[in-house]
Amino acid sequence: MRVDADLRVPGDKSITHRMLILAAMARGRSRITGALTSFDARSTARVLRQLGADVSPLAEGREILVRGRTRFRRPGGALHCGNSGTSARLLLGALSAHPFASTITGDPSLRKRPMRRVTDPLEQMGARFTFRKLDGLPVTVHGGRLSPLRYELPVSSAQLKSALILAGLAGDVPVEVREPGGRSRDHTERMLRAFGYRVEDDGDWIRFAPTGRLAPVTNRVPGDPSSAAFLVGAAVLSEAGQLRLREVGVNPTRTGFLRVLARMGAAVNIEEMHDVGGEPVGDLVVSPAELVATDVAAGEIPGLIDEIPLLAVLASRATGTTVFREVGELRVKESDRLSLLARNLRAVGADAEAEGNTLAVTGRDYRPGGPVVTAGDHRIAMAFAVLGTVPGARVRLDDPACVGISFPGFHDMLAALGGGREG
Ligand code: S3P
Repeated sequence: MRVDADLRVPGDKSITHRMLILAAMARGRSRITGALTSFDARSTARVLRQLGADVSPLAEGREILVRGRTRFRRPGGALHCGNSGTSARLLLGALSAHPFASTITGDPSLRKRPMRRVTDPLEQMGARFTFRKLDGLPVTVHGGRLSPLRYELPVSSAQLKSALILAGLAGDVPVEVREPGGRSRDHTERMLRAFGYRVEDDGDWIRFAPTGRLAPVTNRVPGDPSSAAFLVGAAVLSEAGQLRLREVGVNPTRTGFLRVLARMGAAVNIEEMHDVGGEPVGDLVVSPAELVATDVAAGEIPGLIDEIPLLAVLASRATGTTVFREVGELRVKESDRLSLLARNLRAVGADAEAEGNTLAVTGRDYRPGGPVVTAGDHRIAMAFAVLGTVPGARVRLDDPACVGISFPGFHDMLAALGGGREG
């Protein structure tokens, strides 16, 4: 395939969730452009409406208006977060500081994901939770007055870190956290600094002090690097040409996949760098490349956690064995991504092994073909759809529509790589 396209990917999922939540907690009217309108973003918007915020419909290309309130109101029914772990975990934090009981639930995939990692430290702050089973949703939050927290996270997780910072914000108490591995995405910290809050990061401890004020925002959401990654991957696998993706977020806590791709022989240029609301943004310019294997170390994982499915399918076409170390977190994502990646790679004719917390993929020039079980996981679906662009490939996804969780229009955009201009 020859690539010749100039495109824009949808807005960043992590930033959209955070902007909606902070706008809902600020008294007055916020205006958000470029926001993601996917199923996950809609889950956050829907739950915020139940909590008393006025959030206009999320429609592609339309500005979102949010009329927030300083305190959430007691919701009428359960808060259903669909497939979205970020919605559930961030709201567990914010609701911990509200003096009422509220129940958070989600779809069958989200109900399987661990929540005690979030509620344990929130309990130390003074909130109470009732679980119906050992771990996982549904969970009822009994919020109230909170005390300050100093806490070492058991895993580097932006959802966990952000839940605790949002509890500090809503409860008006300082929060200090330390991440054990590499730094997870820091969008919450950047956004709160933009509001004038003190959020210090000395490379070890992250310290939030409730010294600022949430005010309505007028802000733009950059393109999602995690969505861009799939199109970047397709361009790398193509035979000729060039792809430009405009205004993609290039926050260093999100671009670990670009550093790994460079090691694999696929250097992606970042052009037109500028700042959008405290986040670095640039155009990604990509050309085809011959790939070689690499070793992805434990400390790199938080900075590319959502790009491992894509990197694993690319590794299946690289010369040599690529090893992803300490990727146990993949087992508790939207699916057990570690097992599913190995199983699906083998199903399409590649050589992959998941053992313990390690994923090893040995690459070669093969013609991918066979059935792919997505388990409704958007990133598994998109990664294997990228593999399906290899000439002669016959990759069959059992649920292609699940890409709508984070990237509405993905399949059309992938098909447009051969000649598309939306820039
Ligand atoms: C996210 C953090 C990551 C990531 C998820 C979005 C966020 O999860 O996998 O897609 O917006 O904070 P963890 O914090 O659980 O690693």
